[in-house]
Parts: sequence; C-alpha cells; structure tokens
Amino acid sequence: MYPSHRPRRLRRNAAVRRLVGETTVEPRQLVLPMFVKEGAAEPTPIPSMPGVVQHSRNSLRKAAVDAVDAGVGGLMLFGVPERRDATGSGATDTDGILNVALRDVAAEVGDATVLMADTCLDEFTDHGHCGVLDEHGTVDNDRTLRLYGQMALAQATSGAHMVAPSGMMDGQVGVIRDSLDAAGFTDTSILAYSAKYASAFYGPFRDAVDSQLIGDRKTYQQDPSNGREALRETDLDLAEGADMVMVKPALSYLDVIREASEVADVPVAAYQVSGEYSMIEAAVGNGWLDRQRTVLESLTSIRRAGADIVLTYWAAEAARWLRQEQ
Ligand code: PBG
Repeated sequence: MYPSHRPRRLRRNAAVRRLVGETTVEPRQLVLPMFVKEGAAEPTPIPSMPGVVQHSRNSLRKAAVDAVDAGVGGLMLFGVPERRDATGSGATDTDGILNVALRDVAAEVGDATVLMADTCLDEFTDHGHCGVLDEHGTVDNDRTLRLYGQMALAQATSGAHMVAPSGMMDGQVGVIRDSLDAAGFTDTSILAYSAKYASAFYGPFRDAVDSQLIGDRKTYQQDPSNGREALRETDLDLAEGADMVMVKPALSYLDVIREASEVADVPVAAYQVSGEYSMIEAAVGNGWLDRQRTVLESLTSIRRAGADIVLTYWAAEAARWLRQEQ
C-alpha cells in the first residue's frame, strides 16, 4: 500500500485539528495601539487605516474600557499634539496630550490592563524626527537621550506601567532605566523597540499622527536588509535593562522575530504595523480577502515565528473573535 505515511490523518476533522494545533493566539497576548488627538471633540477617522481613529479624550476612555472588556493584554498610547516645536516639548510636558491621556485611561481602567506609552519625540517635533537635530540637521543621539529620560519619567508619573522607547537612539534603554530608577519608578518596565526597521510599512501611521516628517529615518532605524544587526540591538537593550524586546514590523520580519526569540531571555513582542493593517483592510474592502480568516492567520503566523505578544490594530476585535471560538 502506498503512500505509507499519511499526515492528512491529523487534519481529517476539526476535532483532531484542534487537538494537534501548535500555536494559539489568546486575547491576553494582544496589545492595542491607540491614538489620541489634542483638542479633538470627536474621534477623527484615519483615511489610510479604515476602522482606526484619532481619538478625542472622551472616545479614548470609552475605547480603552471596551478593549479591556474584550480581554486584550495591554494598550499602547500615542499622542497627537496641537502644537509642535523643534525639541518636542509636548512630550515632556506633564500636560502634554499623551501624558494627559495616560492619566485619563489609568483613572478609567486602573490595573485591569497593562498601560503602555510610546516613548519617542516624532509626534511632538515640528520636523517629525524621533529626536532633536544638530546644526547639520542630523538627529543628535545624546541630546535626544536626555529628553527620552524626561519623557519616560513624565509617562511613568502619569500612570504608564510600561514605557516603550521606539526612537532607535543608541543607549536609550539605559538612560530611561536610570531616569526612572532615580525618581523611584523602579517598578515601571521598559518594552524596548530593539529591532525597528526603516520600513515603508509605517506609511499610514504618518497620517495617524499627522507626521511632519520630510525624508526618512534611515540614520537611526535599521536597514531592512540586515538580520544580524537586530540581534546586536537586542543584546544591547537587554544589557541596558530592557524588560521586554520588540521586533517591528512583523510580517516581513518573521525571520527576525524567530531569531530574536531564540536569543532573548525576556518576552518578545512584535508590532503588526499600520501598513500591514491597511494592506489587509484594502484587500478586504475590495472583496479579495476574507477579513476574519486573514487577520487571524496573520496573527497566528507572528506567534508561530516566536512572538509572545503582538501589537495589532485589530487587538480588540480579534480578542472578541477568539473568545467566541473557545
Ligand atoms: C515612532 C513610531 C512609529 C511607529 C510606531 N512608533 C513611526 C515611525 O517609526 O516612523 C509606526 C507604527 C505603525 O506604522 O503602525 N514613534
């Protein structure tokens, strides 16, 4: 009798497939990134990210409660300020929109979820770069570090459980750790964007935060052709005290997620970014892909690659689907 090996036996019905499935996606492993716009009375749709909005303070509070009810593991907040300047002073100002929003959400959901904050200046600078510029227009690493230390402290003071430096400055994790510790925030953790690539997939995010950037971030974010460098960045962030590390984007970097998850002795997160969201939503909008199946397959693949945690704009919705499946 041929064939003698029949792997299809373990696929013959839903019960056996359920029994042998290797990878799960659970609501608690999903983190919802959220945008909040200073001065907004109503949520504003983001055209390039159908279904995602820039929240008002009010709608943010409601959406945060809704996501926590759905079972997500965390919320990652981004602020969109009304005014910007060369040093991104809205980021360190305790009355800046991101810090105000952190206090709003902390008051609403308390310790029911992990409240995270993006620790980066790009939303707050008038030139759109992730740090301050020197006289040649280059991002000044070490001057930027001082501001990151202050920004992280303002976020921790406002109720962030976890700060997430995403600017790819050398030494950012160490400086933030020192700044938090010196002020007594020894329990505030750091989710380091360790391997963050200079990716075209961030395109729709620029709309989401009304980005002022002209040009690109190639002098600080990683070159998409490099894999080894991601491991070096991960090692450095761990040595500087990162509590968790992240790879970003996700789908085009599954190999990097796999490798990072093999070297890191901390939880590894992956960020399914705006362009990954928009690609699928656009195809779904055209009737070319099945929305729920495609979204869950993409999340499963990121988990299978080795991510413990996935940041995704579908977090709340996917959490609801996953609960129904159980
Ligand atoms: C920087 C930051 C960016 C994203 C998250 N944090 C933009 C960038 O690096 O250009 C992108 C997220 C996404 O595309 O969904 N603060």
